[in-house]
Amino acid sequence: MATKEQPKEKEMTRRQFLTTVGKVGGSVAVFSLMGTMGLLSPETLKAAEYTPPGKNDLNLSGRGGKKIIILGAGIAGLTAAYELGLAGYDCTILEAKEFAGGRNWTIRKGTSVAEIGSGRQTSRFDNGLYFNAGPMRIPQFHVTLDYCKKFGVAIEPFNNVNESGYYYNENVGALSGQRVPKRAAKADVRGYVAEMLAKAVNQNALDLPLTAEEKLKLVDYLKAEGDLNPDLFYKGSERGGYKDEPGSRLDAGVLRDPFDLKAIIHSGFGKYFSNEYSYDQQMMMFHPVGGMDAIVKAFEKRLGNRIKFKSEVKEIRQSSSGVRIVYKDGNSGKDQELRGDYCICTIPLTVLKKIPADFSPEMSKAISSVGYASAGKIGLQFKRRFWEEDDDLYGGSSLTNMDITQIYYPPTDYFGKKGILLGYYAYGGTADKLGGMSYAERERLALTQGAKIHPQYPKEFEASYSIDWKKTKYQEGGWVSYSANDRKTYYPTLCKPDNRVYLAGEHISYITAWQAGAIESAREVVTDIHKRVMKA
Ligand code: ALA
Repeated sequence: MATKEQPKEKEMTRRQFLTTVGKVGGSVAVFSLMGTMGLLSPETLKAAEYTPPGKNDLNLSGRGGKKIIILGAGIAGLTAAYELGLAGYDCTILEAKEFAGGRNWTIRKGTSVAEIGSGRQTSRFDNGLYFNAGPMRIPQFHVTLDYCKKFGVAIEPFNNVNESGYYYNENVGALSGQRVPKRAAKADVRGYVAEMLAKAVNQNALDLPLTAEEKLKLVDYLKAEGDLNPDLFYKGSERGGYKDEPGSRLDAGVLRDPFDLKAIIHSGFGKYFSNEYSYDQQMMMFHPVGGMDAIVKAFEKRLGNRIKFKSEVKEIRQSSSGVRIVYKDGNSGKDQELRGDYCICTIPLTVLKKIPADFSPEMSKAISSVGYASAGKIGLQFKRRFWEEDDDLYGGSSLTNMDITQIYYPPTDYFGKKGILLGYYAYGGTADKLGGMSYAERERLALTQGAKIHPQYPKEFEASYSIDWKKTKYQEGGWVSYSANDRKTYYPTLCKPDNRVYLAGEHISYITAWQAGAIESAREVVTDIHKRVMKA
């Protein structure tokens, strides 16, 4: 890493040396070296929070000194600029919006943006409350947490799994319109399924390649899995909860009665379970304290004035010797151009495909052929945390087959006075349906449907802010959505540099729809460019 190199200080004055490094490596290199040489005040050093290289740090040895133009100040662009800056490259990020982060976007009081084809929506949330319109959770094993650690971004648990949440489905038979605690549905589905399988194995009803001893072991496991009685019947379980809670002295409590087998099968609740054990959606998950954009702010702090905001890319041009980016400067309203040696383009493909560019026909075809997923969210501010106060529900989610799809309870500020619920988080056609509504209609729908799960909604509601990612300018999609054929036909092209332009972002990864995909792809592109520069 650049920060590890030691200056030959004796041969020249410190100022001369820093000027030389500045020419070769840009001001981030100067900054790093000033720190190494003890020239920065303790406050400045603290702000820089220099940490020695860790296990996941890139090791770009040698100094680049080339000019890299990065398109987009989302997580991929920020990562690229940060890492290249450390290695001494001169980077500029062109960002179309007035703020950085891309889909890492935290909605707070005063956030005011117009969706494509709609008027401005202005958040009336209270000071200090927020909701993450884009990424809201980070798996433990994602590189994103390494950057949080390196930058000193405080994190806290994101309760992704909570048995105290509810399932609520409509038009599913006997359990229609009934709010069922997740723990009850899980106990019953697992109990009945284990019962059926245990009996089948016990009665040799299945043609299994198992010895008698192995069958006994399998039945033993199923008994534990379903909490079955010794006769292999499922008769309910304390795992599903109580209709009368146990208490002190003689109060043993009364277990709830299990639902009828047919009712629970028709309910469809069982189909919800597997999400909780998909690889990237398990407990524990994390999120930054105070909003996901803490990560963005941490990058910005380290990039100084390298981000040019309100700079909408109009053309991407390149030759054998360099790149030329034409952009509209939002301040002057005039087209400007910026030249560099290489370009890292993190613009989502939905937007990039509309920008005139000197890409090979193969690359242009790939860019325009890949689809993006729809996704939409609404934050609902309530004046009382009734889910905690009335239902003992702290974080986690409730799932439903209504349009709102799911409700997430804030995994932060427990016992606080107010709170912002994620009132819906919809995908696909449902997201498109909600996205097609006005902001007021979305709010009405979220309140009407949510009130079926939480009747406290109408009385406690204060303010909403909704987002449709397809209608969000400069994003136009939730995340990339590759078919198996896209991965085979187009993806390899998107992963390769097109002359001097490299693509990066969650779409250039197999960790799509996660910040980690954006970070990993940026790191790989940075490494590739550095190798190319060192070889030249
Ligand atoms: N990674 C996104 C999420 O966790 C899609 O919701």
